[in-house]
Amino acid sequence: MKVGIVGCGVISKNYAENAPAFDFDLAACADIQHSYAEALAAEHGIGALALDELMADSAIEIVLNLTPPSAHAEVTRAALAAGKHVYSEKPLAPDAATATELVAEAERRGLLLGCAPDIFLGGAFQAARALIDAGAIGEPVAVSAAMLVRGPDVWHPSPEPFFQDGAGPLLDMGPYYLTAIVTLLGPVRAVAGFASTTTGERTIAIGARAGSRFVVGTPSHVATAMELWSGATANLIASFEVADRYVCDLEIHGREGVLGLPDPNAFGGPLRLRRDRGDWEEVPYHSRGAREARGIGVQDLLEAVEERRAPRASGRLAAHVVDVARSALQAAAERRTVEVASRAERPDPLPVLRHA
Ligand SMILES: NC(=O)c1ccc[n+]([C@@H]2O[C@H](COP(=O)([O-])OP(=O)(O)OC[C@H]3O[C@@H](n4cnc5c(N)ncnc54)[C@H](O)[C@@H]3O)[C@@H](O)[C@H]2O)c1
Repeated sequence: MKVGIVGCGVISKNYAENAPAFDFDLAACADIQHSYAEALAAEHGIGALALDELMADSAIEIVLNLTPPSAHAEVTRAALAAGKHVYSEKPLAPDAATATELVAEAERRGLLLGCAPDIFLGGAFQAARALIDAGAIGEPVAVSAAMLVRGPDVWHPSPEPFFQDGAGPLLDMGPYYLTAIVTLLGPVRAVAGFASTTTGERTIAIGARAGSRFVVGTPSHVATAMELWSGATANLIASFEVADRYVCDLEIHGREGVLGLPDPNAFGGPLRLRRDRGDWEEVPYHSRGAREARGIGVQDLLEAVEERRAPRASGRLAAHVVDVARSALQAAAERRTVEVASRAERPDPLPVLRHA
């Protein structure tokens, strides 16, 4: 299958470098800044097209939407209207209503819609799922999760979209944690939360516009507590307000043990298990080698097209994640608990061996 990239910024290089490991052909790319498309195209020997040319190219069956969060919905909508299957970067849409509309539109057209993150398809998270399902930690009771960092103003040349409504730490980085929680333990039923914006203005630290300032338009620090349909609870702190160090914690506590998971924003990393108040043990797991990389979700989507099934990193799952994040922000704004309207079941595990 031929894939066309829309949005040729920072992460597009990563997807383009990973592409040879997968069964799709990167055929072309487009960007509203055509020079960005030309640069990516030159590096990877693909075509740089205008956006409407890419959408009109009947050879391209899948659009890989790598635009900033604010453009995700419009690009996905245009690609679906052009008859393409779509795999979008996260979040699927800025709000739950738009996310649900995109899911419905794809279904109406008989097209598949997938969305990042796809880290849960990697060996570590698949092994964690197998351990939980096999009862290694007993009945799951609680998830403790935290993502704390100074923010993309420090490391991204165009950080503004990541600080606007529809992004921020909970909608931009939160999907890694929320997707991990939902794919391991099932959907979220209700949320409470607190949100704040301490640093109202930021300065771009790197790139051509280093030194320019911009106003933050969404909460930059969010603490949430969630009740899952399973009965377990989950806490997540997502913050762009701490000192310049990336903290990522994700632990699942059960009645008989604890699972320590690696960063849900990166493939690989140690998976640790502690049982009966014993010591941490590192759990070996199978790796898919070069396919342990961003792109595995696109690979699963193209297999889903052939097998006439939903992709595992599905639009429906991503819409639930957006709904959970938005409900948490609503709960914070209204200082109350919010019932999450949507629901998404855990996708089937990937057919991989469980242990090395
Ligand atoms: N940068 C990372 O490390 C990283 C990692 C994982 C996921 N992501 C996600 O990937 C997405 C893109 O992030 P990025 O860092 O590459 O952003 P970026 O700003 O570097 O690149 C986005 C590109 O999209 C283009 N664009 C904007 N609107 C467009 C439109 N309507 N049509 C076509 N092109 C358009 C921009 O010109 C830009 O070149 C975001 O959703 C982000 O959350 C980024």
